[in-house]
Amino acid sequence: MSEEKKYKRTLITTALPYANGGVHIGHLAGVYVPADIYARYLRSRGQEVLMIGGSDEHGVPITIKALREGVTPQDIVDRYHNIIKKSFEEFGISMDIYSRTTSKIHHQTASDFFKTLYDKGEFVQKTTQQYYDPEAKQFLADRYIMGKCPHCGNERAYGDQCEKCGTSLSALDLIEPHSTISGAKPELRQTTHWYLPLDRHEAWLRKWILDEHKEWRPNVYGQCKSWLDLGLQPRAVSRDLDWGIPVPVEGAEGKVLYVWFDAPIGYISNTRELRPDDWQKWWKDPESRLIHFIGKDNIVFHCIVFPAMLKAHGKYNLPDNVPANEFLNLEGEKISTSRNWAVWLHEYLEEFPGKQDVLRYVLTANAPETKDNDFTWADFQARNNNELVAILGNFINRVIVLTSKYFEGKVPAVSSLTDIDNNAMEEMRSLRRETEKLLDNFRFRDAQREAMNMARVGNKYLADTEPWKVAKTDMARVGTILNISLQITANLAIAFAPFLPFSAKKIFRMLGINEMPWDKLGSFDLLPDGHAIGKAELLFEKIEDSVVEAQIAKLNAIRQKNEAEQWQPQPVGETIDFAAFEKLDIRVGLVTECSRVPKADKLLCFKIDDGMGGRTIVSGIAKHYEPEALVGRRVCFIANLAPRKLKGIESQGMILSAEDADGRLSLVSPDAEVRPGSKVM
Ligand code: MF3
Ligand code: ZN
Repeated sequence: MSEEKKYKRTLITTALPYANGGVHIGHLAGVYVPADIYARYLRSRGQEVLMIGGSDEHGVPITIKALREGVTPQDIVDRYHNIIKKSFEEFGISMDIYSRTTSKIHHQTASDFFKTLYDKGEFVQKTTQQYYDPEAKQFLADRYIMGKCPHCGNERAYGDQCEKCGTSLSALDLIEPHSTISGAKPELRQTTHWYLPLDRHEAWLRKWILDEHKEWRPNVYGQCKSWLDLGLQPRAVSRDLDWGIPVPVEGAEGKVLYVWFDAPIGYISNTRELRPDDWQKWWKDPESRLIHFIGKDNIVFHCIVFPAMLKAHGKYNLPDNVPANEFLNLEGEKISTSRNWAVWLHEYLEEFPGKQDVLRYVLTANAPETKDNDFTWADFQARNNNELVAILGNFINRVIVLTSKYFEGKVPAVSSLTDIDNNAMEEMRSLRRETEKLLDNFRFRDAQREAMNMARVGNKYLADTEPWKVAKTDMARVGTILNISLQITANLAIAFAPFLPFSAKKIFRMLGINEMPWDKLGSFDLLPDGHAIGKAELLFEKIEDSVVEAQIAKLNAIRQKNEAEQWQPQPVGETIDFAAFEKLDIRVGLVTECSRVPKADKLLCFKIDDGMGGRTIVSGIAKHYEPEALVGRRVCFIANLAPRKLKGIESQGMILSAEDADGRLSLVSPDAEVRPGSKVM
């Protein structure tokens, strides 16, 4: 844990999102809200801070998207860079700069960085065989090759992984590979690239992380340890591609820097762009602290690869901490851009205008700091209604209303203090210490909970002192109570400012004061006697069931669309001859009784009029039908299947049903009142 005093300033970086789509709640929860809380907190403490961001605009996915839409990669990144930038601004993510990796200064910086490492002999050059798409005329990244999985036979395995059996693959493992760009059969061709020999860096990385940074989050430390324990391999830092930063070496035509080489250098470029004159001190002065905010899929790049690059360069600071988050799921499923399973920030703002802080609050309350977490609309509604409205908003509103009612909106004086008053003030001071400790340790979710506990202190104070009753007998006492309540309100504005910046601003305005810094937190002289407070404003409002139901309906529609798109008919079975078909005796039956089978949640027991004296059939469709509703219906069944026992009942045949894309079963019935026992053919 780095003692703040050791450092003069903090450089906060936020992972550069790929500019091939918008940003959603997963981005916000994983990286940008925690980074913003931290930056606002440090600024409020009077520390020197820079918060750096930008779009990651290189890489193969952007070129593929451009190809599919018939536009240039530049068109794609221009479009999304602007959308992303706007979303961050709207959510109050207080970056000091949000730039992009297609900027001139970045091309220059990354190119120079490569050149320095190259000249120092920090790379090794290797020639290998790689798949090439002769139609698209380009080398193929593993992700863009598909074929049959050598382990499970899945025909649609990717060159880096089979999503059916989960095995990680190399494109060379695939059976009958084809290019997903053109469909062509790829050829093996020789190509030469530069590699960062991470193996040479292993020893110092082990010591630096495993011995000297035991305070990193367990998920981060653990991931680093397992990488290091596996042994580090050289990693290619160039690619054969025509989109990116050209490799600044003679004879490297058609080759660009690998996106994961140039993107983290973007942090440096963007600092340079923001502070052309003193950027170096932010990166190189030992009194500057570097903190990377990222999601868990970026850990190895920020804890191992980028530090190795910085070390190889020789003059840069290494990160002091990398508080990476786990993933946020949405209603129990992994967020996915391609399946549109996400809450997009621009859509949220259209549907919940002005409610940025509500989302920020919920995402922090549920932040995936130690494990994957789930965002649900029910939780969103509950946190809004039961916490923001019922605790924070309710307290502040009561204080403002009572002050205008009894003191014409002027801060009353304190006459004398009781134990209740002193206790409330002491609790606020102790909550400040707690909140601060948690923030210093990147525990934003717990820190926000402590801030909310300050509002609970306020509510309890009003409930215990009951100024509305005291007003009948002792106005001086009411004055004391409201003075303290107003001071608590000002404290809440300070404490919540890093978390809920829009609401904090409103609270300061309602109190008629300017924003106050963190060191005032825990003070009870923030509002002078006689100070006129401002007008009451709406802070939070109840979210109705219908609003949340509409969001869930929207997601259900997306889920259904995805299922329909993914559905593929099962392959047709082996061919049989007519004689084999004739052996199957299918008949129409009339359901005369139907009931659930005890201790079997899938089974229904049918009594069927089969025109031949009746029979019993057990069928696995209890999840899809109510038994009572089936009595009187005609069904089709296989009449000559050998009987078998299910849960102690002899089942004499099998009832036919069809399975839909979502696994729903639907009974097959004749479409007229055919006589029971009739043959089906
Ligand atoms: N674009 C990457 C992602 O979204 C993150 C890049 S972070 C940086 O996963 F360090 F490379 F900038
Ligand atoms: Zn497989």
